[in-house]
Amino acid sequence: MSQIATLILDGESHDFPVIVGTENEPAIDISSLRARTGHITLDQGYGNTGSCESAITYIDGEKGILRYRGIPIEQFANGPNFIEVAWLLIFGRLPNVEEYAEFANELTHEANIDEGMRHHFDSFPRKAPPMAILASMVSALSCFHPELLELDDPSRFRSAAARLMSKIRTIAAFAYRHSQGLPYMYPDPREKYVNNFLHMMFSMPYDHYVDDDLVRDALNMILILHADHEQNCSTSTVRMVGSSHANLFASCSAGISALWGPLHGGANVAVLEMLQRIHDGQLTPQEYVKLSKDKESGVRLMGFGHRVYKNFDPRARLLADIAGELLPRLDKNDPLLNIARELEEIALQDPYFVERKLYPNVDFYSGIILRAIGIPVNMFTVIFAMGRLPGWIAHWWEQQQENARISRPRQVYQGNGLTDYTPLHGRKR
Ligand code: ACO
Repeated sequence: MSQIATLILDGESHDFPVIVGTENEPAIDISSLRARTGHITLDQGYGNTGSCESAITYIDGEKGILRYRGIPIEQFANGPNFIEVAWLLIFGRLPNVEEYAEFANELTHEANIDEGMRHHFDSFPRKAPPMAILASMVSALSCFHPELLELDDPSRFRSAAARLMSKIRTIAAFAYRHSQGLPYMYPDPREKYVNNFLHMMFSMPYDHYVDDDLVRDALNMILILHADHEQNCSTSTVRMVGSSHANLFASCSAGISALWGPLHGGANVAVLEMLQRIHDGQLTPQEYVKLSKDKESGVRLMGFGHRVYKNFDPRARLLADIAGELLPRLDKNDPLLNIARELEEIALQDPYFVERKLYPNVDFYSGIILRAIGIPVNMFTVIFAMGRLPGWIAHWWEQQQENARISRPRQVYQGNGLTDYTPLHGRKR
C-alpha cells in the first residue's frame, strides 16, 4: 500500500505522496508544497533533498554499497575495462561484442583533436592548472563540433558521447605536456583507451612508452571506480547546467569546474600534500590527526569522511588492495603509503572519527596509486574527471530524455528589509 506523509502547519493537515525507490528508499514528494502551503523546505547542502529520480547508480552509504546499473562495483575488480563500464553507465546495460567493438572503434577514430584546438594549448601559461585547461578545452569542443550541440536522437548522442570520451583523454594528456614544455604526442590508433592515454602522457618522439599491464589495469580500475557516484557535487552541476538545455560539452565542462574543488575531486591532491608534509617531518601522523580534530586549526584529515558513506567507502577498500598489490610489484617502497596506513590506523581507533563515522574515502588511496604509476600530482584531479565523464554523460542524457524542468532552487531571504537608494555623493563613509 502506498504511504502518505502528513504535514501539519498551523493546525491544518497536508498529505504528500511517498515515493519508494527500487531498493525501498522512501522519499516524500513535496513538489506541490509551496503551491499548497506557501512554504518551501530549507536544506543547506541538499543532504536531505532528492533532486531527481535516476536509474544509473545506487548507493547505500550506511552499508557501503555502490552499484552501477545494479552491478556491485566489486564485480568490476577483475573483469571489464573502463570502456565497457562507460557503455554500461551511459546506455543502461553491458554492451554485446559488436556494440563494444563499434564503440571502441569510434573512440579510436575520434582521438585526435582539431589542429586549431591544439594551437590553443600554446596560449595557456606554462603553469596553468591542468583542470583549468581541461574545463576550457572541453567547453571549446562546442565550437569545433557545432553539429553535436543539439542531440535529438540516440545515434547523434552516441557520437557525441564517443567524441567527448575520446577527446578528453587527448586534452588531458596535452595539458600535461604543455605544463612540462614537452612536445604533444598524437594518439596512436594501435593503442587501447588507457594505454593510448599513457602513450600521450609519457612517450617521446624518439621513444614510445612501453606498455605495462599492471599499470594499465590499475589505471583502468581507478577510472572505473570514479565513473559515477549519483548526485555528487559535479554531477549535480552537470544536471543543473544541462537543465537549461545547455549542450553536452558545456554541461560537462561545468562538471569539471565543480570537481576541481578540494572538498570534491581535488581532495586526492590534498591527501598527497598532507602525506608529504608529514613525511617531510613537519608533523607526526599523531600530531596531524590531533590537529585535524581541532576546529580552530582549519585542518581536516584529507581523504577521510564522506557526505554519503557513513560506514566505509567501498571504492577505498578496493583501492587499498590495489595499492598494497601494485607498489611491491612495481618495486616501489613509497614511504607515503606507510604514512597513509598509519594515519588510517590512528583515525579508525579515535573516538572523534568513530563517533562522526569518518572513514577513508576514494581519494585516500587513489593518489598513492597514481603517484606509483608515474602520474604527476597536478594531473590527479584530471584523471578523476576522465573517470567521472561517463557518469556525467549518462546523467545529462537521462535528464534530457525526461525533458525535466529547469533546476531552480528557492531561498529563504535573510537580508535588508525595504531600503531606499542613496545617491553616490550622499553616502556616509
Ligand atoms: N577531518 C576532520 N574532521 C572532519 C572531517 C575530516 N576529514 N570530515 C568531517 N569532519 C567533522 C566535521 O568537522 C564535523 O564535525 P562536528 O560535527 O564536530 O562539527 C563532522 O565531521 C561532520 O562533517 P561535515 O563537514 O558536516 O560533513 P559533510 O558531509 O558536509 O562533508 C566531506 C563531507 C566534505 C567529504 C568532509 O568529510 C571533508 O571535508 N573531508 C575531507 C575532504 C575530502 O576527503 N573530500 C573528498 C570527498 S570524496 C569525493 O569528493 C570524491
